[in-house]
Amino acid sequence: MDASWFCHLNARIGRILIDSKRIEKRVRELGAQITEDYTGKTPHLIGILRGACIFHADLVRAIDLGLSFDFIAVGSYGASTMSSGEVRILKDLDESLEGKDVLLVEDIVDTGLTLHYLVQNLQARNPQSLKVVALLNKPSRRSIAVPVDYIGFEIPDAFVVGYGLDYDQRYRNLPDICVLALDPEHP
Ligand code: IMP
Ligand code: MG
Repeated sequence: MDASWFCHLNARIGRILIDSKRIEKRVRELGAQITEDYTGKTPHLIGILRGACIFHADLVRAIDLGLSFDFIAVGSYGASTMSSGEVRILKDLDESLEGKDVLLVEDIVDTGLTLHYLVQNLQARNPQSLKVVALLNKPSRRSIAVPVDYIGFEIPDAFVVGYGLDYDQRYRNLPDICVLALDPEHP
């Protein structure tokens, strides 16, 4: 196998933090919990592009209910691993949220700034209810309090890639969630 794509810019893939089998099992559990909690309802799952797209695709298939979904894209980190704190909508939803039971699907909650902005923005569109599901949570990095109703895994303060998460748009297609190692020799 040509492994050259495992190394990009000054970064390379470090150890596996959560392998694909554990992800698969946890997504199934989250889907079962959501199915139970939304029985009798038709949830509307909004995926936050681009990071959450793979989690979203697996999660909707783990929910045994009629549902609908949509996507929204917000500004992200670019080539840096630090949040700018600035959030803006790059692609808005296609549909109104009026009267819908909205479940916002995020890949990872880090400082909380992205979710804080989005929850306020979506709440103003009059959904029937609004909850949040995040695959990963880095509680030690939180700079603003945000409610997260369903969490896949709590992880330590490391920059991770794979299963939709990127570094400079790369590594989203790794099946496992891996720690990114930055090379201090080549900043
Ligand atoms: P927050 O606004 O600081 O909570 O950052 C949320 C967004 O930053 C996530 O939706 C990710 O796109 C990105 N992000 C945060 N931490 C990581 C990471 O460890 N790897 C890849 N992307 C991350
Ligand atoms: Mg994201």
